[in-house]
Amino acid sequence: MKFFIDTANLDQIKEAQNLGILDGVTTNPSLMAKEGITGKNNILKHYVDICNIVDGDVSAEVIATDFEGMIREGEELAGLHEQIVVKVPMIKEGIKAIKYFSDNGIRTNCTLIFSPGQALIAAKAGATYVSPFIGRLDDVSTDGLNLIAEIRLIYDNYGFETEILAASVRHTMHIIDCAKLGADVMTGPLSSIEGLLKHPLTDIGLAKFLEDYKKGN
Ligand code: G3P
Repeated sequence: MKFFIDTANLDQIKEAQNLGILDGVTTNPSLMAKEGITGKNNILKHYVDICNIVDGDVSAEVIATDFEGMIREGEELAGLHEQIVVKVPMIKEGIKAIKYFSDNGIRTNCTLIFSPGQALIAAKAGATYVSPFIGRLDDVSTDGLNLIAEIRLIYDNYGFETEILAASVRHTMHIIDCAKLGADVMTGPLSSIEGLLKHPLTDIGLAKFLEDYKKGN
């Protein structure tokens, strides 16, 4: 399972990278705005800064919603750095753009996936990744994890190579459950990743080991 961090915060990206387990980064316009990164040039520079910190894929989102605009923006984003994956929204024009990018060797992440049908058509168009937003489904009383299971089944039935990138992961249990269901990738906040490290019995056990070592020395 690949681990991506879902943030535009460079300190958090560095922290995850230093852990040695980071496979990539996802961002979106909201996460950029949260870090105060505004204006096209600043946003493009920020993507390059992120690519220079991590070794893996970095999703960079188009803002246009028409085919020509998405192609123009996507080609510019892809040209920034070889690690860039162009993030395209799940709309009709977006599917056409994903097909174009796929035919032209540009990798894509189809974002805002909320149903198995959307994931199916994105895979048909040749998306590299699909991003089902599990937390946002949970927010509206719908089981986000069930969507991961449905997409996994459909992709395995036909051998689609599109990777399931579980997004809108909010906490550590989401990561565990996505791993059980066979999501290829998860993207979440640093806190959700660091939660995987924690167990009180580990802390108690280590304190006891150190205490006993001191007794003998
Ligand atoms: O990866 C998608 C993500 O950024 C959305 O997360 O928590 O705003 O639903 P959230």
